[in-house]
Amino acid sequence: MTTAPSHFSGGAGAPAIGVLVSGRGSNLAAILHAITDGALRARVGLVISSRADAPALERAAAHNIPTAVIVPRQYSTRAEAGAAIVAALRQAEVALVVLAGYKPILDAVVVQAFPQRILNVHPSLLPAFAGGMAPRPQAEALASGVKLTGCTVHFVTEEVDAGPIILQAAVPVRDTDTVETLADRILEVEHRLLPQAIGLVLSGALRVDGRRVLGGAP
Ligand code: GRF
Repeated sequence: MTTAPSHFSGGAGAPAIGVLVSGRGSNLAAILHAITDGALRARVGLVISSRADAPALERAAAHNIPTAVIVPRQYSTRAEAGAAIVAALRQAEVALVVLAGYKPILDAVVVQAFPQRILNVHPSLLPAFAGGMAPRPQAEALASGVKLTGCTVHFVTEEVDAGPIILQAAVPVRDTDTVETLADRILEVEHRLLPQAIGLVLSGALRVDGRRVLGGAP
């Protein structure tokens, strides 16, 4: 394990976040940029990948962020993989967990270990086009003929893509859009929204009332 350099530490005493990834890690990069720019007071204490070959791991290593690879199918049960994830996150003393392009469905053991402390970014305006990883939600939006789609940052509960919504932003669908162009424009908005949601949760300003998250509206 290595230590994050000071320019990514987010300042002394900044809360640690754990980021779970499976792929390219552009949302991880957006979090790191927000920290470097001073827009987000936090530090990435650990990156956990569900795949050993995820490019996101290289991004983390380039910033000297500790990484762990936990491949769920290498465990006999999903709960065992979940227990390994919980142990790693606890060891890193994270205040918050962020799913940033994390593919596996998180086991209940992880959700229960961090109640209202796990965030996910999803590339649609939930509850529309829930489930599935990019580019499925974007392809479904395009095929459905909606004129607006977007992205959602929400708390993770045991039901997939159904937790209380923290922030959403709309992206218009253009006549000329392909799944790729639409996904690219949604991604730009994700990169703004995810660090903003992390900051809101860490600030303690939010209150969850049933399905509603209060205190985060502009
Ligand atoms: C994003 O579109 C995110 O909404 C979805 O998976 C994609 C991850 O992209 N859950 P990246 O790995 O952060 O670049």
